[in-house]
Amino acid sequence: MRTPMVVANWKMHGRLAEARELTQAVRDGLKRPRGVEVALCPPFTALGAVAEILTGSPLLLGAQNCHWEDTGAFTGEVSPAMLADLGCRLVIIGHSERRHIFRETDEEIRRKVAAALRHRLQPVLCVGETAEERRQGLTFTVVEGQLRAGLGGLGAEDLARCTVAYEPVWAIGTGLNATPGQAAEVHGYLRGLLSELASKEVAQSVRILYGGSVKPDNVGPLAQEPEIDGALVGGASLQAASFITIAKKSAAKSGASKE
Ligand code: 13P
Repeated sequence: MRTPMVVANWKMHGRLAEARELTQAVRDGLKRPRGVEVALCPPFTALGAVAEILTGSPLLLGAQNCHWEDTGAFTGEVSPAMLADLGCRLVIIGHSERRHIFRETDEEIRRKVAAALRHRLQPVLCVGETAEERRQGLTFTVVEGQLRAGLGGLGAEDLARCTVAYEPVWAIGTGLNATPGQAAEVHGYLRGLLSELASKEVAQSVRILYGGSVKPDNVGPLAQEPEIDGALVGGASLQAASFITIAKKSAAKSGASKE
């Protein structure tokens, strides 16, 4: 039912020449990915160049953020309508760096998710606890609050078009990934909440990705967890070879999908 997905979040990396080179290498290394969907999320400035290179490729284009309005006096912002125009198919929303460095609120994130859906973009809603929250036993409380705030109020059809990414903040860029067991436990909890928000069928169809220090040498056991439907990859997505390996290792065996 769920084909795994691997999403490259380049963050604020990739001037044009680098973005082109990396995209070409990933495209050539993943000409026809089987049993996995692959998306590249470059910075806004490289979206056009990456879109051109991905023409005719099954790899999807995505953005790392968006505003919630279509147009208006919002200096420095980019709307989902503009992203859709460029050929984006998905957009990462509520990444922990947006929440913590740029102080994005749950309400803003909710509006962004709704705006992305209005423009037929697939929102990839990120949730995750800090090290301190985990230490205090608040992991489930935190991710539940973020999930309900981001997706609450959506109809079942819209919910089915969303993807969730569990990214424990303590695992991002630290080299310290969640164990497959730790991740699977949270994914299972999130899926239970999705059942409540929509239905069991919808919950079973929504992909829940894991993100946080995913590397070629740790992705295998994560990908084997039935509850983990792929990866949101930061640092390791900046090297074509490592990202390609992660994508291949995340593919469902024999092209089958997860249930
Ligand atoms: P790293 O893979 O660099 O830990 O980053 C994870 C992330 O934030 C992806 O969105």
